[in-house]
Amino acid sequence: MEQKKFYITTPIYYPSDKLHIGHSYCTVAADTMARYKRLTGYDVMFLTGTDEHGQKIESKAKEAGLSPKEFLDRIVEGERGVLDLWKLMNISNDRFIRTTDDYHCEAVQKIFRKMYEKGDIYKGAYKGKYCTPCESFWTESQLVDGKCPDCGREVHDAEEEAYFFRLSKYADRVQHLLEDTDFLQPRTRVNEMVNNFIKPGLEDLCVSRTSFDWGIPVDFDPGHVVYVWVDALFNYPTALGFMNDRYNDYDKYWPADVHFVGKEIVRFHSIIWPAMLMSMEMPLPKHVYGHGWLVIDGGKMSKSKGNVVDPYALSEMFGVDALRFFLLRTFPFGTDGNFSNELLINTINTDLANKLGNLVSRTTGMAEKYFGGTLPTEREDEALDCELKTMACALRERYEEEMEKFQFQNGLEEIFKVVERANKYIDETTPWSLGKDESKRTRLATVLYNLLETIRICTTLLTPFMPDTCDKIFEKIGACEGCRTWEKANVWGSLRADATVCKGENLFPRIDSEKALADLEALQEAQKKAALPALEIESYVEEYVDFDTFLKSDFRAVKIKNCEAVKKSDKLLKFTLDDGSGTDRIILSGIHAYYEPEELIGKTAIAILNLPPRKMMGIPSCGMLISAVHKEKGEEKLHLMLIDDAVPAGAKLC
Ligand code: ME8
Ligand code: MG
Repeated sequence: MEQKKFYITTPIYYPSDKLHIGHSYCTVAADTMARYKRLTGYDVMFLTGTDEHGQKIESKAKEAGLSPKEFLDRIVEGERGVLDLWKLMNISNDRFIRTTDDYHCEAVQKIFRKMYEKGDIYKGAYKGKYCTPCESFWTESQLVDGKCPDCGREVHDAEEEAYFFRLSKYADRVQHLLEDTDFLQPRTRVNEMVNNFIKPGLEDLCVSRTSFDWGIPVDFDPGHVVYVWVDALFNYPTALGFMNDRYNDYDKYWPADVHFVGKEIVRFHSIIWPAMLMSMEMPLPKHVYGHGWLVIDGGKMSKSKGNVVDPYALSEMFGVDALRFFLLRTFPFGTDGNFSNELLINTINTDLANKLGNLVSRTTGMAEKYFGGTLPTEREDEALDCELKTMACALRERYEEEMEKFQFQNGLEEIFKVVERANKYIDETTPWSLGKDESKRTRLATVLYNLLETIRICTTLLTPFMPDTCDKIFEKIGACEGCRTWEKANVWGSLRADATVCKGENLFPRIDSEKALADLEALQEAQKKAALPALEIESYVEEYVDFDTFLKSDFRAVKIKNCEAVKKSDKLLKFTLDDGSGTDRIILSGIHAYYEPEELIGKTAIAILNLPPRKMMGIPSCGMLISAVHKEKGEEKLHLMLIDDAVPAGAKLC
């Protein structure tokens, strides 16, 4: 009989930012699914990778003073890079694609040409608002106050040659796919796609760019590069060898069984992706699963928000398996989950230390204590045992049902019901009192064997979630390879009657949550600081100014007409300012250490005007110029606040 195939993918990551625990979430879920399918006997192909083209990468590399490829190599292959992280997280991907790999680039060129020759890609004009200094096109809605969102300057209407994909042509077929099949999951994502994107009318998609170079060139029209999403989406088949000779698994594994993707990229995967596959006349993936985000206080994690949770740090503190477990145990896969350190620690303590860890250590401990680790083989059953046995044997089916729906949390819930039942069984059977009575030895051995069997079954089904830990548990309970299988996961009595048990060290020591929380907070503070430029922020004083008092402060734009050093002072500069009143205003400011007078003449600054005049070195100063002050490596730095020269003298700041 031919082996059943399963092809699963994660999104390919933009290596422009450091990966955080949110990225690990999807990859851990996909890894768990891949391991589960392998366990159940499938021939699995599990793909992940990196999405390496586009303007963002180009400019990040420039900032770093590197070529795009050098920049990418560091983040992907370098120390603590993407590959390192997946290794650490025990990700069992069968293949890793980088969209800068030659075979992929060549295949994308062929794909683009094929859609062009078919007439599904055509040349047109991209119309938008153009900012000349930034060389960027913007849509009306991206503008800020009608200006360039990057530099704030004027934009103008412009047109640029570009290629377009006939997305509109496939609108009906895509709508049918979403509404009438189970292609897109969870079902709740379907309405959003149909109502927000398809019903208002799908416009053709601009699929080439000419404003930057870091992309796959359109081979029949130099100057154009392929839009990064077209390039990225086709990774799923090119990684199997589609339109290239690097691999030969396209026929074997395509179409994908499932693409796991975050909710913000569901649109690309459930509308644009199937439309392009239809154009290419390729079979469609069976499912796209749009999972939720890990959020912190309701906001998505991101480096720019300074709330990145570093998977390296967390795994070092709690162990990789505990972290993997936490991610899938705590949050339903389809909706957002609010990450917190408290929740992480509580989950580990409750489920892993108290429930699972305790069950394993109590059972193996008693097997050692009462039988030197090897149970006698005679048994003495009691009616009481039935419930536990029945539950344990029924577990596989219940678990399978949830896993097939990608409901990891529910799958784990089923396992933990059995773990809890087993702990209760210990309380009911009180093996420690059986141990005191020589005549109860057979009964004691039976109780312990039932517990070991329950542990074996639970461990088999937990393996996709915590592979290393489960290996250790199997070792502890003396489970041979043959009884760790899916086939034996619903067969009671598979563990050898005289299996040799070894308690060994504790799997999940209880975490001192106060200490761990303090450690984590300190670490996250340190990381936040490291992510910022060397800026020592002084803590803000909590002293309030009432609003009316604040409104009385007269801040104005002022033009620096003249600036000179004050004689006999090495700090003071004397400013002659146009404050819009028609009369010059003199302000003294102690900033000579930071500026030479000449460089400030002609600039526009901010001053507060209604301070009482104050004499310095015999000269009256009428107001104060505003500067920003901070410390860098203990040294005070100052920047006079200079503003756009377009602001007229006397303009009031409010
Ligand atoms: O979108 N919680 O790459 P990416 C959960 N290159 N998931 C999160 C998350 C969070 N806090 N933050 C990010 C891209 N993700 C494209 C994909 S596929 C052909 C191209 C998820 O690095 C996010 O939802 O921005 C997405 O699925 C994945 O990380 C990669 O994000
Ligand atoms: Mg993204």
